[in-house]
Amino acid sequence: MGELFSLLYRSKCILPALSSAELAMLEVARTRNQFEYITGILHRESGAYFQWLEGPRSGVEAVYASIQADSRHTNVECLSSEPATHRRFSDWSMAYSNFDDESLFDWAAATGMSLLLPNPQEILGFLEHRASLLA
Ligand SMILES: Cc1cc2nc3c(=O)[nH]c(=O)nc-3n(C[C@H](O)[C@H](O)[C@H](O)COP(=O)(O)O)c2cc1C
Repeated sequence: MGELFSLLYRSKCILPALSSAELAMLEVARTRNQFEYITGILHRESGAYFQWLEGPRSGVEAVYASIQADSRHTNVECLSSEPATHRRFSDWSMAYSNFDDESLFDWAAATGMSLLLPNPQEILGFLEHRASLLA
């Protein structure tokens, strides 16, 4: 299956939260992710998406290329992309969490994380925490 790879990005939302358009996007994403052996989580808060993708490098890169070209969000900015030693979201073709569930901003305040220079490791810590509660 090749090298396990991970990618974290942030983007600006366009679709209303939990709209039928957003839920339809999520359903297509989950179907394709299963096909590509990709797992991960999408967190939405204050008009921003944070998404972690993990899986075979070729699949992650192909899906990320589609995501970058997708006009349903803008300002897609990669925060980290690197080989991974293990999957962190193996139970999820794409978990979804949003501000109503728990806030990354609150997490940042509690952990002393800088919002000026967000640290991918700290964002990942929040996303793993989210998935552990969704399970
Ligand atoms: C915020 C956001 C997150 C997305 N996440 C995924 C994803 O995890 N996996 C996926 O296959 N597509 C995801 N998509 C949809 C892709 O951009 C794309 O529409 C889909 O993969 C179908 O590929 P295609 O448009 O090249 O046919 C996402 C789109 C948006 C706007």
